[in-house]
Amino acid sequence: MMKLRHLLAAALLPSFAFAQDAQIDRKVNELLKKMTLEEKVGQLHQLSGRQFTGPESSKFADKLADIRAGKVGSMLNVKGVAETREIQALALQSRLRIPLLFSLDVIHGYKTTFPVPLGEAASWDLEAIEQGARVAAIEAAASGIHWTFAPMVDISRDPRWGRVMEGAGEDTYLGSQIARARVKGFQTSKLGGTDAIMATAKHFAAYGAAIAGRDYNAVDMSEQQLHEVYLPPFKAALDAGAATFMNSFNTLNGIPATGSAHLQRDILKGEWKFKGLVVSDWASIKEMVPHGYAADLADAATRALNAGSDIDMEGYAYTKHLADAVKSGKVQAKLLDDAVRRVLVKKFELGLFDDPYRFSDAAREQAALNDPKHREIARDVARKSMVLLKNDNNALPLAAGAKRIAVIGPLADSKRDLEGGWVVQGERADVVSILEGIRRRAGSATVTHAAACAPGCATMDGLDAAVAAAKDADVVVLAIGETWDMSGEAKSRTDIGVPGQQNKLFEAIKATGKPVVVVMLAGRPLIFNTIADQADAILYAWFPGTEGGNAVADVLFGDYNPSGKLPVTFPRNMGQLPLSYAQYSTGRPVLDEKNIVYKSAYIDSVNTPRYAFGHGLSYTSFRYSGASLSSNTMRPGQSITLSFDIANSGKAAGTETVQLYIRDLVSSVVRPLKELKGFQQVRLQPGEQRRISFTIDRNTLSFFNTQLKWGAEPGDFKLMVGSASDDIRAELPLRLLEK
Ligand code: GLC
Repeated sequence: MMKLRHLLAAALLPSFAFAQDAQIDRKVNELLKKMTLEEKVGQLHQLSGRQFTGPESSKFADKLADIRAGKVGSMLNVKGVAETREIQALALQSRLRIPLLFSLDVIHGYKTTFPVPLGEAASWDLEAIEQGARVAAIEAAASGIHWTFAPMVDISRDPRWGRVMEGAGEDTYLGSQIARARVKGFQTSKLGGTDAIMATAKHFAAYGAAIAGRDYNAVDMSEQQLHEVYLPPFKAALDAGAATFMNSFNTLNGIPATGSAHLQRDILKGEWKFKGLVVSDWASIKEMVPHGYAADLADAATRALNAGSDIDMEGYAYTKHLADAVKSGKVQAKLLDDAVRRVLVKKFELGLFDDPYRFSDAAREQAALNDPKHREIARDVARKSMVLLKNDNNALPLAAGAKRIAVIGPLADSKRDLEGGWVVQGERADVVSILEGIRRRAGSATVTHAAACAPGCATMDGLDAAVAAAKDADVVVLAIGETWDMSGEAKSRTDIGVPGQQNKLFEAIKATGKPVVVVMLAGRPLIFNTIADQADAILYAWFPGTEGGNAVADVLFGDYNPSGKLPVTFPRNMGQLPLSYAQYSTGRPVLDEKNIVYKSAYIDSVNTPRYAFGHGLSYTSFRYSGASLSSNTMRPGQSITLSFDIANSGKAAGTETVQLYIRDLVSSVVRPLKELKGFQQVRLQPGEQRRISFTIDRNTLSFFNTQLKWGAEPGDFKLMVGSASDDIRAELPLRLLEK
């Protein structure tokens, strides 16, 4: 009986969804007919609440009047049941009582703060990442929020750019998988539940390729690179059902993305058939004037709407000039109606016309924001996000016999820095510091603490006390790195070294001769060659969130065997930037670092990174063997299987992320030396062995050619599996046949 019911539901679901969409379309059409031109424009005007995440605009009292008059369609930075009810009530005083959408930057958690997205990406654990977004959605939706401005899916290969912290790193394949997982986590399978919020794929597009890594700077690249590297994660988000997109501040090949019909109409709403809404970034419509693309705010309003930017976030371009643009014919009424329709459809899908307050429920908010399961999940994600970069002489896990542990450094007892940027409703007191986490877990060991300097370590007047603490200990845990506000929006750095006097602090502690375990906090790859050379162990913890201190302790004491892998390349020096593993051969590749004469190399540095994309150690070891292909040739339309054995050859249970890379040896567009095309996470007990397989088909071998057509070209390929992009354990040749 159960099975029949499921079968019936599955069969009927599409037609039910179609019927529901048709019903919503009918209601939207009826409403559009009643709306005046000014009311339509109002739906495209988005304002910030009392807090600002961009340059400040008008007085809040004026905004309330506009809301009451039906001149505002959505708000951002309004949060909590009480405040959303207060503001929604004003909107319901307008003539047509059209409810507001409430949006917010729920980037890595609402009340429970998760690791920053780059840290989450380092887990390569798509289920964990989806769970993190799920918890964030449950907490936000219970607090009156309908819409988060996440996931940020910008690929970035230049860690000078502070917003690398907010994304999934440098790789298109990994970034696409993570985009999909986060959209599903925020939205569930269908919007409308009061535990699901609209996701936003942002910033459309190529914002992460800002020249010189300087935020908001111009972007210039070929259409082929745009389609090959930067667009796929957006398409993955769209295919996962992302309800909204946000355009970006940058110009792309001379055109501001906000005013780009190529991006927003040709690609997004045309080729990709996106039916959701596009919101501008903060005042990005108005900013087309300083870009030198719009003559004035009126011109900006016309250009943006015609190019497909549906909502104007805090730009005041639409509210002041769009009605006139329609009256004058500069903007066609049908384009205005299309933009308004996209907004109204979402409000119907969320059930806001039936009950504008359905997301603002005090009891549900109280329960969601105090659910202990959420912190357990955050701790699990944080553990999985941490990357063991180095572990000499088994410095980790901390020996059970370590009786005296000195926890030193400016970030040892910091709570604020563990949260990272874009913290929404997290309580500072809830954050577990690294010192607290170690103290809770250290058992009978004595744990001492010496900060040595304040976060950032601009000056260091506590060095002597720190050295004394180190001398008196069996092992030192040195907690250093960036402060929370050194990465994120408008936080580009020309020098991504460890800030202030922290290298000096490391050298002084190392000089005591004690084993030094470095726990590094950052929102981006940092450059720290002396520490990398001399530390006994390095655990890269990113900004691990509310449960960060517990998660660090879980890894340091071996309660969790680290499984993180780098989603970004760590350079040796600034001069190598931009740098990623997906390098091209060039006509003069370096085959031997000792012979670089007339080769594509530097005379003052090797080409290799300090730590490669995909790198991450474990407390155990993994042996790969027996790699084989079901066939060394493949016809178009066929697929073959790559299989290999992986064994846990160490003493601790652990999780390995096996990575599949390919290289197309000869092609109409040169291909990178390696392209990630698959990965699997395998948990193995000591001594356990398992056979893993990947299916290789045409899609695995495909790329965008110069005509922007996606496809695979016959010829020879190299398939590789490994533990990191620079730790390939097996290579197998494959020939794709013509037919
Ligand atoms: C900011 C960011 C964007 C964010 C928006 C609203 O400037 O660029 O990512 O969602 O404004 O806060």
